Amino acid sequence: NFIQAQNLTDECRQLLLSLPSEKGWWSPSIHLYQGFWHKTRFMDGVLSTQRNFKALDSDVLLITTPKSGTTWLKALLFALLNRPSYSRSSNYPLFHKSPHEVVRSLEVDLYVDNPDPDLSSISSPRLFSSHLPFGSLPESVVSSKCKLVYLCRNPKDTFVSLWHFMNQVRLEDNLGANPMEEAFEMFCRGVSAFGPFWDHVLGYYKASLEMPNKVMFLKYEDMKERPVEELRRVAGFLGCPFSENQDEPVNEILRLCSFDRLSRLEVNQNGKLYNGVDKKFFFRKGEVGDWINNLSPEMAERLDRITEERFSGLGLKF
Ligand code: A3P
Repeated sequence: NFIQAQNLTDECRQLLLSLPSEKGWWSPSIHLYQGFWHKTRFMDGVLSTQRNFKALDSDVLLITTPKSGTTWLKALLFALLNRPSYSRSSNYPLFHKSPHEVVRSLEVDLYVDNPDPDLSSISSPRLFSSHLPFGSLPESVVSSKCKLVYLCRNPKDTFVSLWHFMNQVRLEDNLGANPMEEAFEMFCRGVSAFGPFWDHVLGYYKASLEMPNKVMFLKYEDMKERPVEELRRVAGFLGCPFSENQDEPVNEILRLCSFDRLSRLEVNQNGKLYNGVDKKFFFRKGEVGDWINNLSPEMAERLDRITEERFSGLGLKF
């Protein structure tokens, strides 16, 4: 019934009938497509992105698992790529629009209600974001020379951030909060937005090892710990390096995109995004290690164990 009530194409409806589906903790109905969980509302956007998005060699795609710091990275990459016009001017787009309006998402925004949006007015280099797993990317993204910047975060903070975010959205919609234990169980068995979390991270981690000039792999924790070095690394990767002996231009971007600065802007405190979600929900604490205030020691141990089992052989640590 929920699926029937959604505004979906016939093709999408047909496909959903053939996919494993269940009730999600972030959506009444979710579907396992190409090994990852998607909510009904985004399925048309996923299919249209795969079929119709044509990457250009000069494109930059910012890819994340939800709640890994997408909002932060959107602001940082926009400021990096728009340095020539970057100034203290009050007209700067990040002062007037949410980072999610400045850098649009493919499958959850541009393509969600429009199978073939007109992207011709976007200036080069085009910057888009996506949560799609590596194996579900449109063919042209892989075959072109476009660059992918991937950001993930330790699974304990990612889960906690996701749980808080989904509850805020649910409370706004009068759906009531999700019990944490239920959401946690599902997260652990891989059922989360664009999850399994570990498979998502591994897909991009392996791609970054195999194609280091195409895929850059970043961690939220590293960005917090050594922001200047990490932003310099990203700038070098994108072909717009900072000069070696000057930290001030790097620091200027970091200050502009800091949690304090962005979260205090009127444009990020009030109003809703294209999908009806409050802009302020994208700014909660912005800290590393907040899981300690939310997860029991047993829950933390369980997530650590899964992460160790899945990642340690590959040298990936959180
Ligand atoms: P917390 O819920 O732990 O505070 P996303 O942007 O992928 O939805 O991720 C949201 C998380 O990033 C939230 O984490 C949010 O507070 C944090 N965040 C948002 N803006 C940030 C910034 N400028 N710097 C650091 N963290 C930020």
